[in-house]
Amino acid sequence: MSDHDQMAQEATARIAASEDLTALEALRVEYLGKHGSVSALLKTLGKMSPEERQEKAPAIQGLRQTVADALASRKAELEAAELEERLASETLDLTLPAGAGPKGSIHPVSQVMDELAEIFADLGFAVATGPEIEDDWYNFTALNMPESHPARAMHDTFYFPDPAPKGGKMLLRTHTSPVQIRTMMDKGAPVRIIAPGRVYRSDSDATHTPMFHQIEGLVIDRDIHLGHLKWTLETFLKAFFETEDIVLRLRPSYFPFTEPSVEVDVGFAIENGKRILGGSGDEPGHGWMELLGSGMVNRRVIEFAGLDPDEWQGFAFGVGVDRLAMLKYGMDDLRAFFDGDTRWLEHYGFSALSQPTLSAGVGERA
Ligand code: DAH
Repeated sequence: MSDHDQMAQEATARIAASEDLTALEALRVEYLGKHGSVSALLKTLGKMSPEERQEKAPAIQGLRQTVADALASRKAELEAAELEERLASETLDLTLPAGAGPKGSIHPVSQVMDELAEIFADLGFAVATGPEIEDDWYNFTALNMPESHPARAMHDTFYFPDPAPKGGKMLLRTHTSPVQIRTMMDKGAPVRIIAPGRVYRSDSDATHTPMFHQIEGLVIDRDIHLGHLKWTLETFLKAFFETEDIVLRLRPSYFPFTEPSVEVDVGFAIENGKRILGGSGDEPGHGWMELLGSGMVNRRVIEFAGLDPDEWQGFAFGVGVDRLAMLKYGMDDLRAFFDGDTRWLEHYGFSALSQPTLSAGVGERA
C-alpha cells in the first residue's frame, strides 16, 4: 500500500470515529488546515518538475478529496444526531393551556370592535362583512362615485392589475361603505347593520397607516329621517364613552353616497393639556373634534343596490375604529397599533376573559 493510501485509510478511520463537531473540526485543521499534513503534501506539487507532478498529483489530490469527503459526511452525521437529540429532549406540547410565560391579550382594535358590536346589538343591529379585495364597482361606482368622480381622488387607492368583474380594476377597499351595497343586494330591505373591518389607503404618518379600521352603519327602512340618525349616534357615543355628557354638532358636509351629508363633531374640554370628551365645544376652554361622517343614503345608491328609493330610505355613517380606540384609551401614535410590540400590547391590551357587556361596562379593563 502506498504512503498516500495508508494516510487516507488512517484519516478516514479517525474521522469516522470522531465523537462530536469540535473533535471533527480539530481533525479538519490537522489535515486540511493551513499547516495541515495534506495541505503540506499539496504544497510539494509546486516544487516538482512537470513530469513528476503529472505522475504524483493524482494521488495527492485524490487523498485531499477522500479526506474532504470523509469530513463532510461525518459532519452531516453528527449534525443529524445533534438535531435528533434536541428534538427528543425539547418537547413542546401545543395542546397544553397557556400558563406561565407571556400571556396573550386582546388588541384595543378588537376590543373596540367588540364593544361596538355589543352596543349596536342592543339597538337591533346585526354585524355584516364584505371582502377586503373589492370590485371597483362596489367600492366606488355603486356608491355614486363614477369613474371620473373627483371624490375618488380623495381615496389613495391600492389597485390590483386584475380586471374587476363589473369593470375597472380590483382594489383594496378604501372604506367599509361597499358593505352597504353588498348587504342591500343580498338581503334586501329593511336593513339594520354595522360592518367593521380593515380598509386600505396609500397614506402613512403618525395618524395615518396604509391599513386601518372602520365601522360602517346602515339603516334602511320606511320613513327614516335625520332625527333617527342623530339619536342613534348620540346613544352609541354615550354608551361607548360611558358618559351622558356627550354633545354632538352636526355640520353640513358632502359625501357622494349621502344626501344630505353631515359631519359629526363632538365637544371636548382641555384639561392638563389633554382632550377630555364632554360638554359643548362652544364653551370657553372647549373645542369641537371631528368624529365621523354620515348622512341620509343617496337615492342613487339605493337604486344601484336594486331597491326602490321611493319606498326605502335610510341613513349611514362611517367612523374610524382606531381613532375611537385612541380617544377612549389614550394612545397617541397610530403606528404603534400595528408594530406587534408585546410591551405595548401588555400595556394597552385587554384580558380575553373580560368580554364587553352593557351591564358590566363595555370598556372594563382587566
Ligand atoms: N366612507 C367614508 C370614508 O371612508 C366615511 C363615511 C361617510 C361613511 C359618510 C358613510 C357616510 O356611511 O354616510 O371617508
